[in-house]
Amino acid sequence: MKSIFRTKPIDHIAGRGLKPVLGATDLVLMGIGAIIGAGVFVLTGIGAAHHAGPALVLSFMIAGTACAFAALSYAELATAIGGCGSAYGYGYAALGEIVGWLIGWTLLLEYGMAVSTVAVGWSGYVNNALLAVGYGLPEYLLKPFTEEGGMLNLPATLIILLLAGLLASGAYVSAKFNAVMVVVKLSALFLFIAIALFHIDPANWSPFIPERLVDAEGHAKYGMLGVVEGAAVIFFAYIGFDAVSTAAEETKNPQRNVPIGIIGSLIVCTLLYIIVSLLLTGVVPYTELGVASPVADALLRIGQHWGSAAVAAGAIAGLTTVMLVMYFGLTRVLLAMCRDGLLPQQFAVLGEHSKSPIRIILVSGVLLATAAGLLPIESLAKLVNMGTLAAFTVVCLGVIWLRYHRPDLPRPFRTPYSPLFPILGALTCLYLMINLPLTTWIAFTLWAAIGLMVYAAYSYRHSHLAGAAAVAG
Ligand code: ALA
Repeated sequence: MKSIFRTKPIDHIAGRGLKPVLGATDLVLMGIGAIIGAGVFVLTGIGAAHHAGPALVLSFMIAGTACAFAALSYAELATAIGGCGSAYGYGYAALGEIVGWLIGWTLLLEYGMAVSTVAVGWSGYVNNALLAVGYGLPEYLLKPFTEEGGMLNLPATLIILLLAGLLASGAYVSAKFNAVMVVVKLSALFLFIAIALFHIDPANWSPFIPERLVDAEGHAKYGMLGVVEGAAVIFFAYIGFDAVSTAAEETKNPQRNVPIGIIGSLIVCTLLYIIVSLLLTGVVPYTELGVASPVADALLRIGQHWGSAAVAAGAIAGLTTVMLVMYFGLTRVLLAMCRDGLLPQQFAVLGEHSKSPIRIILVSGVLLATAAGLLPIESLAKLVNMGTLAAFTVVCLGVIWLRYHRPDLPRPFRTPYSPLFPILGALTCLYLMINLPLTTWIAFTLWAAIGLMVYAAYSYRHSHLAGAAAVAG
């Protein structure tokens, strides 16, 4: 029993083989790349129409605050422990192998699901753009075979395979591509802000927090409770800054640059979200925002056709970078798990020139592309929220645990007001988890149960720590 809680010595977590090529700007752009995507371009509408009304901006502030606590904890552990495994590595070092394994397993769910589901959304946006120029794809190439009239979601499959090629060419090339795409999506959001500023009707903000009511289908919405429920939904919009910590080994001067990347990207995105949500509900009555592309639609409604097309292009760029950085994170967590022997070590091979984990990139790329192309996986955002919140909770707890058990550890970045901030972080994350539906909890429990079986059947015996214990014994 004790051996499943064996912890990994912290000085063994240092990097091996990955090339430190990324600077602070690269990391901030990677964070923005992972954060701004389906959340702001799609979920803002649902958040306003079905949960918070014009007070959506408050939902963004609440979710942003929860993320700020978690981001500070991530920054502390990323500099004190480091490595490319992120919460997996921190959990392993602080709380023991089984906790690390379960969090690693959860991160695979978070990143893997995020990539596959966003690929399906990306496919829809791209086909709309193709339709606009008269080249829409036939239906059977847009849906999986499990749906009527479908065969394969071809664009979703192709984009993942293309991203696999990009990641295989190394962190530097991937970061540069990400930077270009981030500029496109930020320009789209700035354009929206510039146009929307001149089309606000203050009457749309009144009442700011609509009275709580039950709709025709029996769903309660609005009121202060609706604002909090809205926060649990649009939490998805903030996910991604954590992926920056998986780049710790590939960063120059990580002690300085990783906290800048994590916290800097979160600050930029929080400010943008506050402005965009305020403007969106100021331009369009909140009851009419529950559509698939609320930001682009808002511009259409005020006759800005070109602006709307530019926002749609920004959304495509946004979804692309979300997939890229999440996929990057997935491969780094897998690399860390293979290196430790918890998954087959043969996969932990780096490309000779690119120094990227090519075997992992290719195998996971084929699996993700298959899932996105052939399985009906459209609305799994809540499962991604669940996995992320679980990882955030462990990271916050890890900070407190290590402060007491390893006070000697050098901490180039210290979470302020510890243990208050990490406790608040863990509590807010747990509270948001409780607000997720029962079906999400069941799916999450099933995933964890499969993880425990894999651990028992393979990882426990193949762990390098098991080997070390045998030699010592
Ligand atoms: N934060 C990412 C998005 O909104 C996952 O798409």
